[in-house]
Amino acid sequence: MAVPECAPQGELYRAAPDLCQAAHVPTFQCYQELYHRSLEDPADFWGDIAKEFYWKTHCSGPFLQYNFDLTKGKIYVEYMKGASTNICYNILDRNVEKNKLGEKIAFFWEGNEPGNTMKITYSELLLKVCQFANVLREQGVKKGDRISIYMPMIIELVVAMLACARIGAIHSIVFAGFSADSLCERILDSRCCLLITADGFYRGDKLISLKQIANEALQKCKEKCFPVKRCIVVKHLGREDYTFKEASNQSPPSKRMHLDTQVPWNADVDLWWHELMRDASKECAPEWCDSEDELFILYTSGSTGKPKGVVHTVGGYMIFTAATFKYVFDYHPEDVYWCTADIGWITGHSYLTYGPLANGATSVLFEGLPLYPGVSRLWQIIDKYQVTKFYTAPTVIRLLMKFGEKPVKKYNRQSLKVLGTVGEPINPEAWLWYYNLVGNKKCPIVDTFWQTETGGHVLTPLPAATPMKPGSATFPFFGVVPAILDEFGEELEGEAEGYLVFKQPWPSIMRTVYGNHERFETTYFKKFPGYYVTGDGCKRDKDGYYWITGRIDDMLNVSGHLLSTAEVESALVEHAAVAEAAVVSHPHPVKGECLYCFVTLRDGQEFNASLTEELKKLVRRKIGPIATPDYIQNAPGLPKTRSGKIMRRILRKIAKNDQELGDISTLADPAVITQLFSNRCQTGL
Ligand code: WTA
Repeated sequence: MAVPECAPQGELYRAAPDLCQAAHVPTFQCYQELYHRSLEDPADFWGDIAKEFYWKTHCSGPFLQYNFDLTKGKIYVEYMKGASTNICYNILDRNVEKNKLGEKIAFFWEGNEPGNTMKITYSELLLKVCQFANVLREQGVKKGDRISIYMPMIIELVVAMLACARIGAIHSIVFAGFSADSLCERILDSRCCLLITADGFYRGDKLISLKQIANEALQKCKEKCFPVKRCIVVKHLGREDYTFKEASNQSPPSKRMHLDTQVPWNADVDLWWHELMRDASKECAPEWCDSEDELFILYTSGSTGKPKGVVHTVGGYMIFTAATFKYVFDYHPEDVYWCTADIGWITGHSYLTYGPLANGATSVLFEGLPLYPGVSRLWQIIDKYQVTKFYTAPTVIRLLMKFGEKPVKKYNRQSLKVLGTVGEPINPEAWLWYYNLVGNKKCPIVDTFWQTETGGHVLTPLPAATPMKPGSATFPFFGVVPAILDEFGEELEGEAEGYLVFKQPWPSIMRTVYGNHERFETTYFKKFPGYYVTGDGCKRDKDGYYWITGRIDDMLNVSGHLLSTAEVESALVEHAAVAEAAVVSHPHPVKGECLYCFVTLRDGQEFNASLTEELKKLVRRKIGPIATPDYIQNAPGLPKTRSGKIMRRILRKIAKNDQELGDISTLADPAVITQLFSNRCQTGL
């Protein structure tokens, strides 16, 4: 790849010279040199990064061992196997003791209500983590045990995950927007012995009674003969005693005055976090873990409808998230970094917790929502904390674009240096709004492509080095080798479009699907032997830039969150009136994609507005609010092949009112098509 001179699809954007001067990777040439080094001698390249961390014992064997080719045997990836370390020790103790960052703020916490704030330093965080790690040990938690975490965006969430890491327990965080069914399913799949949650929290002005949902999940687990032994509950609602250091001097709104009695309690299982912490010792020796020991499980949607427990391990994940954070955000010690993602997703794991803390960064941890209490909230927070690096999702940008320039301009954004996006392809219009208005034409945008499975950024610009094209994730990060394959598995050179795959591992690639290695192998390595298959389509332009075109499997991306069509279909068919359901993705101006559902009713059932509402509620209850369908259409018949396979390609076109159906010769009964077109929902298309 040469330094591109001009963009074929529009203007090329470059970082301002002052940003380049101080940058870790100041030029495109420098990026290329480092990239080549990372491929020529990975052990040396990653070994240098690993040296910045503390290793109790070093690895005596090979730095990397792997097999990516299913025809040659089991798929596996091992980085520094035999070396031992502890990621919690590295991001807290090492930063406090060796790097003297004890007094540095780790997090500015900004609550849902403006004025509800606190901050916590590295030493204070270490202390809390040690205490809670001791609490877990006292509860009998041992290395390798799985702990489920179902919490709002509060400091205790970070404390809980790091305490697990400290004692070698494996955390499985479930996003607090998921339903009781989803939580139960994840607890069962990973056989978690303990759940950590909170009484509740406010999302804007809506109260979420988290403990209530957690109780339902625990009840369901019990019914499935898996009683979870303990549930530790943070008392978050109505608290005024943010005692980490600086409590807010504004008293919380009266609606927050919650009573203990409102929290459903089961004395056999439930324990208050604050009571356990009161007596916990402040010293806690870390458990030394093998580099390849499991660090966490994080569930992501699977095309069969059953979520996959993506497993990441200690050593590789630590060095890759640390390195990507440093280079992709061009991190410097004086930065104030803010990632708006929830810790319940991979972005919150890698770039709100592990990556920034590994670098000793100061971050903002935001509990609230972009539109609450007003549409300027994000810009106000940027101004308040003088945020320098800001990382959010295209769906958030599109949402805020609707309100025009005024709410943005109301606040000062001079502190900003680098902007980032993640989660889905960003449309050039949103990119330009972000660049021109939010960043005042002076902040490069890092459009980071990656997945729960990749653990960290795999295609991304480096802010000072990479000339940007709006909408392109540009080039591979160090150590990452992408390729584009055609349907037959042939690698395409030059300008091309096809399946995005990776040819070799990088340190934070997932190691397995929890409890189901075969599913890991078939999902990611079977289609094209020798390659990791992302499931995304991709284009490479004449300058070598990569452009993600979206999912090419049965997955859809709603507001940056992956859902499988099968997951939603199985929720819909649980309704007594529904015989069959087919779900497709449909374009949405803010969410990127949304759900368009076709339902075939059982004989004698009537399709009407109240049924539609019931079905929407059912999906919310089974999966969570992110999966709420936008459209539900009556489909007396579905387009099927003679072998009975639903032709979703045709359904997508019907949803879009696109009459160009292409080849429909394999369709068993073409008559259903006319009927489906006439029953379409009003989508504005
Ligand atoms: C999509 C989120 C285009 C993609 C970190 C991927 C993107 C899926 C981008 C993973 C991007 C993520 N440009 N598409 N910059 N980032 N995606 O596992 O389809 O929640 O496969 O991880 O999001 O979603 P996940």
